[in-house]
Amino acid sequence: MAHTAAKRIVVGVSGGIAAYKACHVVRGFTELGHEVQVIPTENALRFVGKATFEALSHNPVFTSVYEEVDQVRHVQVGQRADLVVIAPATADLLARLAQGRANDMLTSTVLMTGAPVVIAPAMHTEMWNNPATQANVALLRDRGMTVLEPAHGRLTGSDTGPGRLLDPEQIVDLALLVLSTGMLPRTLAGKRVLVSAGGTREAIDPVRFIGNHSSGRQGFAIAEVAAHMGAAVTVVAGATDRLPTPAGATVIAVDSANDMQQVIADEFAKQNIIIMAAAVADVRPKIAAATKLKKGSGTADLQQIDLCENPDILRGLVKRRATGSQPIIVGFAAETGDTAATALEHGRAKLARKGCDWLLVNDVSQDQVFGKPTNAGWLLSAGGEVLELPRDSKFVIARQLLEAVAQQA
Ligand code: PMT
Repeated sequence: MAHTAAKRIVVGVSGGIAAYKACHVVRGFTELGHEVQVIPTENALRFVGKATFEALSHNPVFTSVYEEVDQVRHVQVGQRADLVVIAPATADLLARLAQGRANDMLTSTVLMTGAPVVIAPAMHTEMWNNPATQANVALLRDRGMTVLEPAHGRLTGSDTGPGRLLDPEQIVDLALLVLSTGMLPRTLAGKRVLVSAGGTREAIDPVRFIGNHSSGRQGFAIAEVAAHMGAAVTVVAGATDRLPTPAGATVIAVDSANDMQQVIADEFAKQNIIIMAAAVADVRPKIAAATKLKKGSGTADLQQIDLCENPDILRGLVKRRATGSQPIIVGFAAETGDTAATALEHGRAKLARKGCDWLLVNDVSQDQVFGKPTNAGWLLSAGGEVLELPRDSKFVIARQLLEAVAQQA
């Protein structure tokens, strides 16, 4: 990531059951080498003890401005902070922040700081959907704070819905994205974005398949950032690492290129933007054996598998759109330079062949992309623009791509 230097990060914690997950947020930052100051509310300490936060952050913890008054802690911490992350933020804390209250150490620090503020809410669905909470969220966003969308899922009771705290790993990734690139704009509000991610698996028999190294990280990062830029997101996921579901996204799991093509065809008409970050196998076995192929003499099948070409999903999408400007179609190109051309030149030729609106070319020759947290390359537009994307986290690359595309959506 661009910001490798250690930063001073304030982690604010308010009083909800999800406060226990704040421990992993603190851990996530300290493990990356950042200095963390935890500021819980009094009620947060009903859920997690002060000692836990002190041990994890290696710093003393205060809840009130009346502790160590001579140090004027809220001023000191607020002024020194590079980033303030609040996780979880309850409905009450959102209301207090929206009103500009300064009635404890956390709200006073937020009023004091000039650092970016990232807020990860957690509460029951009814409280999240309540017009009062939504108005507070809108106000905080207007004032330049990044209020992340909550996850959809199991809440404290048996109910399920939006309001669950994002996974600590998602909060850390998104907070660091805001730290290096600024507040996330809501420029995709009202838009529907489909992202394909991961690799397809083409069955040889019930046990074996042809696959590839895609982890789904780049596709999921795009989906995650799009969701926090306001989009309604669908992820069509082939094989991926175990990655948390992007906030509010619908994830449809598929195996093969044919499955992926079918799902995307069904979703096509609803989308404003389709981004093909998946690594789709170009070929598949002509016949997927119904029973396991045995190795050893007399089983030639395993030594010679007849292949046939898979459909080119991206080309099919461009063809289907034919006229009109929606959906905007973005392809990816995993390229390596060779004696014939550089990775960028191969990418340019691929853009012309595929006919999509944008193509993100990533050079995968140094084993620096598949499964890794960073990426680099170029974003090419059909109109001839070239945006160089220096090596950075896949979340930063996702944001650069989405901001370019959002201008046309
Ligand atoms: O998942 P990660 O570990 O984070 O790695 C990310 C990535 C390297 C997989 C990703 O950034 C990437 O480059 N994805 C596209 C990889 C690829 O298959 O490139 P390609 O040059 O083979 O395909 C070009 C485009 O056509 C892609 O948008 C692909 O989705 C699409 N395609 C390819 C073949 C096919 N049969 N149908 C397609 O739609």
